[in-house]
Amino acid sequence: MKNPTSTCASEHLLAVEKVSCVYGGFKAVDSVSFELQPRELLGIAGTNGAGKSTLFAAIAGQQRASAGKIIFDGTDLTALEPYQRARLGLVRTFQIPREFKSLTVHENLLAGAPNKEGEQLFAALVNTQARQQRERELSEKADSVLEFLNLAKVRNVPALNLSGGQKKLVELGRVLMLEPRCILLDEPFAGVNPVLIDQLSEHIVTLNQQGIAFILIEHHLQALKRLAKRLIVMDRGSILAQGDPQSVLDNAQVQVAYMGGVA
Ligand SMILES: Nc1ncnc2c1ncn2[C@@H]1O[C@H](COP(=O)(O)OP(=O)(O)O)[C@@H](O)[C@H]1O
Ligand SMILES: [Mg+2]
Repeated sequence: MKNPTSTCASEHLLAVEKVSCVYGGFKAVDSVSFELQPRELLGIAGTNGAGKSTLFAAIAGQQRASAGKIIFDGTDLTALEPYQRARLGLVRTFQIPREFKSLTVHENLLAGAPNKEGEQLFAALVNTQARQQRERELSEKADSVLEFLNLAKVRNVPALNLSGGQKKLVELGRVLMLEPRCILLDEPFAGVNPVLIDQLSEHIVTLNQQGIAFILIEHHLQALKRLAKRLIVMDRGSILAQGDPQSVLDNAQVQVAYMGGVA
C-alpha cells in the first residue's frame, strides 16, 4: 500500500492538504491544511460548529473530502474507506461514544479487533485450531488493554451500564485493539467527571510517550493546553490560529472567536 517513491514519509506522519468538506451547499471545512509529526500530540479547538468533527471525519474516512488530499505515512488516503485507513494505523473515536450497548466491555473490545484471517468464513471453518488460538490471543490482548485503562473491574458489565466517562475509555480501548500509530480523539473529556478526566489524560500521555501520535479535539482551550504542545484553533471551517498553546490563547482573533473567554 505504501508508496515507496513518496518523499514525505520520513518527515510527517500525516499531511492534510487543502481539505474541504461540503454538506449540500454548505462548506463545513474550507481548505484546511496542517501537518502532524510522528509522536506529536496536537490539539484542535474551536467553538461549536467550527468544523472540527467534520475534519476528523474527512481524515478518518467517514466523510469524503470535496477537495484536497490526506496523506498518512506517505500513502494517499483520500479515496480509502475508514477500515483501510485503520489498517494503516489511523483511527478515531467519536464525540458521542458508539459502543455496542448489550455487549460486555470485553466483548466491545473484541468487536473492534481486526480479523487477520481476512474475514474468510472458509478459512475460519477449515482452520479451527488456528482460529481458536487467534481468539485466545485477542481475548488476552483485550484483557491487557482493559488492565491498562483500569477497566478490568467492569470487564463483564454490559456497556449500557457504564458511566459516560467509562464509555469514553471503552472507545479508546476499542481503537487500541487496532494497534494504531495515530489516534484522533473527538472531545474525549466532554461529560466526563474530573477523576476520569485525569485518568484519561494520563493514558493519553503514556500512549503518546510509547510512540502513538494524537490529535485531540477539545472545546476548552485550557484543558488542551495542559496536554498539547501545539494547538490549532478552527473557526467557521478554517484555521484561525496555530502554534504553541500560549501564543494561540493570546491571539486576538481567538479571543474574539471565544468572545473573550478562553478558559
Ligand atoms: N451531517 C451533517 N449534515 C449537514 N450539516 C452538518 C452535518 N454535520 C455537521 N454539519 C454542520 O457542519 C458544521 C460543522 O459541524 P461539526 O464538524 O460537527 O463542528 P464541530 O465539531 O466543530 O462542532 C456545523 O455548521 C454543522 O451544523
Ligand atoms: Mg464536534
